[in-house]
Amino acid sequence: MIEPIRWSKEGVRILDQTLLPSRVEYVICRDYHEVADAIRTMKIRGAPAIGIAAAMGVALGAKGIDEEDRDRFFHEFGRVCQEFLSTRPTAVNLAWAINRMKAVICKEGEFSLECARESLLCEALRILDEDIRTNMLIGKHGEALISSGQRILTHCNAGALATGGYGTALGIIRAVWDAGKRISVLADETRPALQGARLTAWELIQDDIPVTLITDNMAGECMRRGMVDAVIVGADRITTRGDAANKIGTYTLSVMARTHNIPFYVAAPVSTIDFDLELGDDIPIEERGSEEITHINGKRIAPEGIGVFNPAFDVTPARLISAIITEKGIITPPYEDSIYKLKHS
Ligand code: MRU
Repeated sequence: MIEPIRWSKEGVRILDQTLLPSRVEYVICRDYHEVADAIRTMKIRGAPAIGIAAAMGVALGAKGIDEEDRDRFFHEFGRVCQEFLSTRPTAVNLAWAINRMKAVICKEGEFSLECARESLLCEALRILDEDIRTNMLIGKHGEALISSGQRILTHCNAGALATGGYGTALGIIRAVWDAGKRISVLADETRPALQGARLTAWELIQDDIPVTLITDNMAGECMRRGMVDAVIVGADRITTRGDAANKIGTYTLSVMARTHNIPFYVAAPVSTIDFDLELGDDIPIEERGSEEITHINGKRIAPEGIGVFNPAFDVTPARLISAIITEKGIITPPYEDSIYKLKHS
């Protein structure tokens, strides 16, 4: 199984996704700044995976705080958490994971700092473990929605690489395939960072699941030609109303899917739901550097001086989402009540 992140004696071991598919190389982050940098530079990416990386980074940071005075320890610990919170703003899994790490420290009450450091590491490993099990449950629930022979369109990479393992959208595809249903996948290349071409295509080829690569602007024509039976994507943040932020281009797909009467599914763990946010318009959308658009493989493809707009995510309104598949089951519109119930179940 693809293992995008692992705790090791030397530090946090991360599969460097910027090098895939040409090179499969791991980096060892020996201090927490290196983990934060790996998130910022997208060596590790995908909402659940960056939550796990941040949790491990916080555990690593706590190990490195050389303070036996509690107040000074807490002060430094706060700075470590803050560094992770400032890496990437859209995926709520990151803040969710940091909050779980902070809660460990609060729960400890009277404790030795050694014990706190140990508990933080245990919590980070638990977050990783839970994520893999969560994805398998998402796969199990989602499998029921797909029949043999269907062709699934996916965007970006919501696979093993974007999580602790197995994946959310690709987790469903894996579960469908493992159930013996002969499906095929259309993978959007996903400009500008090419997560579809580089990562989704690589993952599915590893598993021998039939996959065809298209550029993002071909998706509409594929739908018009009847080549798509369902769209399954992941999410970075879902509001209590069911609006979902995901990789830029997802919104366009949802509009086209509705036009062509194709079901549009979002697969995500409950940790991707922001229970404090109602409206998709209020989701912070990360904007990345202009070079992602003006350059390909370090080579300039657009004229010097050109203005660039590069939002990394967009928001699909709840009304265009046929169902949201979580580890706790499948929910359908209207989402408010079922999302409320998810919080309390
Ligand atoms: O910029 P990225 O590569 O981190 O964006 C990732 C996505 O948009 C994924 O679809 C999302 O995080 C879900 S991953 C299970």
